[in-house]
Amino acid sequence: MTGLIDIHTHYVPDGWPDLTGWAGPDAPWLRDDKVIMTGAREFRALTAHCWDAALRLADMDADGVDVQVVSPTPAFFHYGRSGAEAAEIARIFNDLALEITAPAPDRLLPFCQVPLQDPDAACRELERSVAAGHRGVEIGNHVGDDDLDSEGVVTFLQHCAALGVPVFVHPWDMPSSPRAERWMARWLTGMPAETHLSLISLILGGAFDRIDERLRICFAHGGGSFAFWLGRLENAWHRRPDVIGTSEQPPSHYLSRFSVDSVVFDERALRLLVDTLGADHVMTGSDYPYPLGERPVGSVLAKAGFLTPDQRAAISHGNARRFLTGT
Ligand code: CO
Repeated sequence: MTGLIDIHTHYVPDGWPDLTGWAGPDAPWLRDDKVIMTGAREFRALTAHCWDAALRLADMDADGVDVQVVSPTPAFFHYGRSGAEAAEIARIFNDLALEITAPAPDRLLPFCQVPLQDPDAACRELERSVAAGHRGVEIGNHVGDDDLDSEGVVTFLQHCAALGVPVFVHPWDMPSSPRAERWMARWLTGMPAETHLSLISLILGGAFDRIDERLRICFAHGGGSFAFWLGRLENAWHRRPDVIGTSEQPPSHYLSRFSVDSVVFDERALRLLVDTLGADHVMTGSDYPYPLGERPVGSVLAKAGFLTPDQRAAISHGNARRFLTGT
């Protein structure tokens, strides 16, 4: 198959056990009209594409997508709860993800979630999920005030590297304020900023110096604001060493350590990613089935006339195959 591999899609199960009794009143629940609720607040209206494999496969066929990586929706991570609670929620959702993807195990590849606030429990759930059929893990880009360079997260990432499990990093839990609540600004500016900060934390926090180079890790939404502001970061590393962190090398040294997806909508942005990170570090993604995603999947790639045939093949499926399998 030489169609697209879409490494950024989401699922939501069509119902789950009531968590509000023990996981707190703001635990997400599904209203009868298929709106995710947090407490009394409407979080997101869903369509059956979130859980119906047949609908997903029909859309994939229409868009020329061979394979979807099917990841959790970050609202269900629960990193703010106890590790035991989050582990139980992860177990429930990871098992439901396997049911959703079961009709097409070669085309719908589930990525699990883990209780990242508890590294030991996260490693256990990762192992359990992979043994049960998950093909990778999606993590949120921070755990409360801890970034990806925190000791616990680095321990988990080391485990992923040792097991050869690919990691997809998704922004979530964006800071809120009256200004950020306007126009979905938490999604439009908050998410790219969160992803930018995560990459900076891995670099300047010295995490890439400590983590095994075999780690396969990809960041959502083109890596957020990172590529556009790499020059500013590089300049700061050279000119403000007193405040800029502990990485052994300048930030540009670490560009080969991670990949990003192509959910940037504009071929000029895709060109910046290819120029900055290399065509071997960009993979097709869509954010399917959500409204801020790309449809048809691969639109920005189709518009990118500057790509060579080899680069196009790498971004459409070749890099993703290596990300998923390690070979
Ligand atoms: Co997404």
